[in-house]
Amino acid sequence: MAWIVVIGSVARDEVVRLVEPLTPGAHLNGVSSGSRLGGGGANTAVTLAGAGHRVTLLAAVGQDASGDWLLAELGAAGVDTSQIARINRPTTHSLVFVDPSGERTIANLGRCEEDGPPHRLQDLSADAVFVRSRRHDLGPLLAEKAETTLVVAHVPPVGPASRPAQVLVASRSDLGNDASGDLWELGRRVAGERLRWFVLTAGPHGARAISGEAMLEAPAEAVVTVDTTGAGDAFAAGLVHALVGGGSMPEALEIALRFGTEATLWPTSALPAEAVQRLLHSSRPREPGALSDLPARPR
Ligand SMILES: Nc1ncnc2c1ncn2[C@@H]1O[C@H](COP(=O)(O)OP(=O)(O)O)[C@@H](O)[C@H]1O
Ligand SMILES: [Mg+2]
Repeated sequence: MAWIVVIGSVARDEVVRLVEPLTPGAHLNGVSSGSRLGGGGANTAVTLAGAGHRVTLLAAVGQDASGDWLLAELGAAGVDTSQIARINRPTTHSLVFVDPSGERTIANLGRCEEDGPPHRLQDLSADAVFVRSRRHDLGPLLAEKAETTLVVAHVPPVGPASRPAQVLVASRSDLGNDASGDLWELGRRVAGERLRWFVLTAGPHGARAISGEAMLEAPAEAVVTVDTTGAGDAFAAGLVHALVGGGSMPEALEIALRFGTEATLWPTSALPAEAVQRLLHSSRPREPGALSDLPARPR
């Protein structure tokens, strides 16, 4: 078990299941699925706590009922919420549309963020830090932390020196045109000299990890997805879990892919502890069909 600090968002995800594909200009029918815990920071934190780690989430929620409810959900999932600021802004609220294929589209209705970077990070002597935030002002804070601690950072942002880290993670769908250039060069610009690996996920196509010398590539298992929300967050949680445990990048990539793909099979934003525990105790390395041997998941 390690102590992991996660910097990132907490959101109330309001979910609408569309009965037709999402098409610009269309008039669609959907079914409300209510609200659930979400936000990239929260999703990753919950999954890392489910893997047995001590997880401290550095985030902000409002002083409203949503903030109360999200803090209770995080606490019930075993996440340390003592470093979550209550600020005088509405809690982040996201609309999540899940299409009939299970693919999600998210609209963020404002972000509940503190005015400045969370300097309290320096008081937390954790084993690793995972950053899942779009803030542009975290560079100096992370540069200091990365001198002594493993920092894994999600991008975007892709600004120069915006994410000093040993490992960067990005989803191809978030990077847009930036994914088509020289990724190692982009990673070095964002993370600096400390960068060892840049990991890029590509939904059903799996993921690749690039270093100065090597390129690893692994496919995702083909599954019938239920809800892809939080797949990238579960992937990142698997990656951090493996790396803090001393795993090599090939091992970490394999575990991350299993976490990511498993997340697409659950109608939740965060991969729950019961799923994480079953993944960690199922046979490794993954055999084709191994996941489908697991007991049925709730739908
Ligand atoms: N349709 C899918 N089928 C199988 N695995 C998936 C699918 N979508 C996502 N995943 C898994 O989750 C990981 C992250 O997904 P991706 O869509 O790239 O990130 P994000 O959720 O940030 O958009 C993938 O590398 C893969 O392991
Ligand atoms: Mg995706």
